[in-house]
Amino acid sequence: MVQGSKNAALPIMAAALLHNGCTILHGCPKIADVFVMEQILQKLGVTTHWEGHSLFLDCHQVCGCSISSSETEKMRASVLLAGSLLGREKCVCMGYPGGCVIGRRPIDLHLEVFARMGADIQEDGDCLRVTADRLQGIRHRFPKVSVGATENAVLAAVGGEGWTILENTAREPEVTALCSFLKKMGVRIEDNGRGTLCILGGCILSDVEYVIPPDRIVAGTLLLAGAAVRGKITLFKAPVQQLDSLLTLYQKMGGQYLVSGGTLETDSRGVRNALPLTETGVYPGFPTDMQPLLMAVCCTLQGESRIREKVFENRFRVAKPLKEMGAKIRIRGAYAKIQGPAVLKGCPVEAMDLRAGAALVIAALCAAGETIIESCEYIERGYETLYQDINLLGGRIRKENDSIDETETTGIPAKNKKEITG
Ligand code: EPZ
Repeated sequence: MVQGSKNAALPIMAAALLHNGCTILHGCPKIADVFVMEQILQKLGVTTHWEGHSLFLDCHQVCGCSISSSETEKMRASVLLAGSLLGREKCVCMGYPGGCVIGRRPIDLHLEVFARMGADIQEDGDCLRVTADRLQGIRHRFPKVSVGATENAVLAAVGGEGWTILENTAREPEVTALCSFLKKMGVRIEDNGRGTLCILGGCILSDVEYVIPPDRIVAGTLLLAGAAVRGKITLFKAPVQQLDSLLTLYQKMGGQYLVSGGTLETDSRGVRNALPLTETGVYPGFPTDMQPLLMAVCCTLQGESRIREKVFENRFRVAKPLKEMGAKIRIRGAYAKIQGPAVLKGCPVEAMDLRAGAALVIAALCAAGETIIESCEYIERGYETLYQDINLLGGRIRKENDSIDETETTGIPAKNKKEITG
C-alpha cells in the first residue's frame, strides 16, 4: 500500500499551528522529515503523540515563534513554519531552510508575498525575522510558480485580514491537500482549479481530523522500479489520477497498466522503447521529483533517451553514481542524454539527495551483483517502507548500520549503507 504523502504531510503539520486546538492526521508517513517537523513543533510547545500512523497534535500551549537554524537547516519544508507562525503569532524568527542540494533554492518568492501583506523582514546572517502588526489581505500574482511559496502565502493569509487572492499559484496535489485540510479546519478557500486561490483571513477555526493522501512520488518510484526490472506489480491506494504524466511515459516505453478502484496493476514485460524527450514541469507536467528515477529506468531502454530538467538547476546529480555503475549518460546544461541498454554493474555508490537515492535503488535492481548505497538516510527522509516493498516485490535489500544512535529523535539514523543485490 502506498504511504501517505511526505509533501502533503509537512505543510499540513505546519498548518496545524494556525489553530489553538487539536489536529489528528491519519495515514501520516513515519519518515525522517516528518519526525524532524514533529520535533520542531514540539520545541514550539506542540504536544504530539502517535497511534499507529495517526499523528496527534495539540497546539493549545504553543509559545514563542523562534526556530533555531540547527533545526531549519535539516529540511526545506521548515520554511513553511514561517507562514503558519506569521499567520498565528504575526512573528517568526528562524534560520534559513536546508534540504536537498538540487539547486540554489532561494526563498525570495516567499518573502515577497509576506512583505506585500505588510510584514517587516529583517535578514541578518543566518537568521530571518518576519514581523507584522497586522497582515493585509492582498491580490498577488506569483512571478514564478513555486509550491512552497504558494503554501506559505496560503498559511499567512489564514491569519490575514480580509480576502487574499493568489494568482499563478502552484497546482500540485500537495497544495490542494493543504487547502482541503484548511477548509476542514474552517478556513474559507476558493480554488478555481487554474492557479488562482482566494483565502479569507480571520475565520473561526476548529479541531480537525484529516487523512493524508497517498504519496504520488512514492507510487511513481515503485512503478518505475517495476519498469526497470520488467516486472508486474500491483499498487494499492495509488493516487492514479495524479500520475497521468508518468503513465503516459510508461505506455510510451512499452508498459501496460490496469486501474481498478484505488489499485494500479502494471505489466512491464513489454518495456523497451527509449523516450526521445521528457521535460519536467509544474503540475500536471512530469514531476521533477520523478526525474532521477526515470533516468535510472532510461539506462535500461533500447536507444537514446533525453531528459530536460526545467525546474531545478542542479538535479542531475544521480548521473555520476549511475555512470560509476556503467550507465552511459551525457549532461549538457539542462539536458541529459542516456544511451541504453547499459550493462549496469553493482558497486559502492553515494546517495546525494532523496530522489537520487531512490534512483540508485532502482538502478541497483537492474545491476549485476551487489550495490552498496552509502548515505541511505537520504532515502529514509521520504520513504517509509521502500526497502520492505522492494523485498516484497522480489528484490533483495539489506541495511547495514555503521552505527545508529538510538537516542537520536530526528529519525535520521547515523551514516548508513544499504546493500542491494540486482
Ligand atoms: C517542493 O519544493 C517539494 N518539496 C520538492 O520536493 C519539489 O521538487 C518541488 O516542490 C517542486 O515540485 C516539498 O514540498 C517539501 P518550488 P519547493 O518552490 O517548494 C524556485 C522532494 O524530493 N524558487 O516549487 O522548494 C526554485 O529554486 C522535494 O520531495 C525561487 O526561485 O519547490 C525552483 O527552481 C525535492 N524562489 C522552482 O522555483 C523561491 O522563493 C520551484 O521550486 C522559491 C522557489
